[in-house]
Amino acid sequence: MPSWNPELYLKFNEQRTRPARDIAVRAAALFAGREGPCSAVDIGCGPGNSTAVLAERFPGASLTGVDSSPEMVEKARSSGTKAEWLVADAAEWEPDRKFGLVFSNAALQWIPDQAGLIERMAGWLESGGVIAVQVPGNGGSPLHRSLLETAASFAGSERFTGLENAIRYHEPDYFLAALEAAGLEGDLWETAYWHRLPNRDALIEWYSGTGMRPWLDRLEGEGERDLFKKRVLGGAAPEYPELDDGSVFFPFRRIFFTGVKK
Ligand SMILES: C[S@@+](CC[C@H](N)C(=O)[O-])C[C@H]1O[C@@H](n2cnc3c(N)ncnc32)[C@H](O)[C@@H]1O
Repeated sequence: MPSWNPELYLKFNEQRTRPARDIAVRAAALFAGREGPCSAVDIGCGPGNSTAVLAERFPGASLTGVDSSPEMVEKARSSGTKAEWLVADAAEWEPDRKFGLVFSNAALQWIPDQAGLIERMAGWLESGGVIAVQVPGNGGSPLHRSLLETAASFAGSERFTGLENAIRYHEPDYFLAALEAAGLEGDLWETAYWHRLPNRDALIEWYSGTGMRPWLDRLEGEGERDLFKKRVLGGAAPEYPELDDGSVFFPFRRIFFTGVKK
């Protein structure tokens, strides 16, 4: 599993948390006219930013945050959000109770068998419970494409063998089929957020905190990592034109889905 740096991740906290807020609004709507969830679990809770969204939106619910990164969970524990925090691999973790809401923001792409996880999530729900998930759909972005091209041509590229599957981006039909197979009443939509970043270097800073981590972990020392980042940015830069003030738009496609247990 890749290493995580909570401080670097939280540099873009506002932009990264926004889809969590958006999917939480939809999850709340699915409880309209009935009591909200008494309990909710946040899978891949990271530093607790998405769990904090749940605490705000569902103040009566007891919360559990699950993440495989001890660094992220340590940060979540010190976040001030009241929750049970667990270090566990979502691909294997099984709760000892049912939840009204199973939530996940920007984490499923790290799980090899996402359809299998969705089926297990459905099994964690109380009757009438809801799963609400957001996953990035930016596998075709110029930045990710440049990352893969850079890795293929970089000195010692055999070091990156196997990383093609470090992140698995799926399309909506995959998730709709998984929801149906899990016996959930599914709904899905997508959004592209046009984040305005202060400069092109911020693109690399953003990706160094998430999608580029498995590749950076296999490089030796800061010098080599800087060279790798420079090449990734060089390959992607023409697709992110600078505005007059040097800032750039970073279009970021995200896929959202919910499932209700009948
Ligand atoms: C991009 S962060 C998302 C954090 C937070 N949910 C948010 O909304 O910003 C992805 C998180 O998924 C976690 N993760 C990756 N693979 C995981 C796994 N197999 N089981 C549990 N957590 C995992 C990572 O440690 C990381 O904290």
